[in-house]
Amino acid sequence: MTAVKNPLSLEELAATVSTCKRCPLWEGRTQVVFGVGNPHARVMIVGEAPGKNEDLQGEPFVGAAGKYLNELLGIAGLTREDVYIANILKCRPPGNRDPLPEEIEACTPYLREQTRTISPDLIVTLGNFSTKFILKTEVGITRLHGIPQMAGRFKVFPIFHPAAAIYDRSKQEAMEKDFRTLGALLAQDDGQVTPEKEKEGL
Ligand code: URA
Repeated sequence: MTAVKNPLSLEELAATVSTCKRCPLWEGRTQVVFGVGNPHARVMIVGEAPGKNEDLQGEPFVGAAGKYLNELLGIAGLTREDVYIANILKCRPPGNRDPLPEEIEACTPYLREQTRTISPDLIVTLGNFSTKFILKTEVGITRLHGIPQMAGRFKVFPIFHPAAAIYDRSKQEAMEKDFRTLGALLAQDDGQVTPEKEKEGL
């Protein structure tokens, strides 16, 4: 008989990750930024990597991009308490440089475990790094944003990174439109007949 491994609880996983030394980023971190939010969330949001404020506070998206993200969540009818937020990398890259392929490889087993544990209905990928990693694609966010995709059993909805839209205001209209679409997708799924409901005749 094949043994089925139960997912670790988020607390157990966070404790493991807090002492991680799988890549050299541990040397420059103040603390690991594991993830935050509702462990039963329907929506999991995946960003890129902690910045300076996140590294200091130990929580994702607490700086300027986080403030903008909170506003955007409101457009979709969501609050931070409704969602779970994590990043591709759990430690801050020096000077906020792009994640390196070897860092992504070392760190993403944690994200996979978080995703398995939370088991969201929908994963929102913010920006190129999380979109390319989760969809296993080389197609960039400029082409993919706002178009629902599938990755295994998960629905995925790619959106520009809020920091990109802070620097390039021409992206803000698209961001806001995509968050309205996200709200509509969630409302649509609310009324969907799931196989369980069908079986029960609901
Ligand atoms: N940008 C990200 O991708 N993640 C954070 O946590 C903060 C800024």
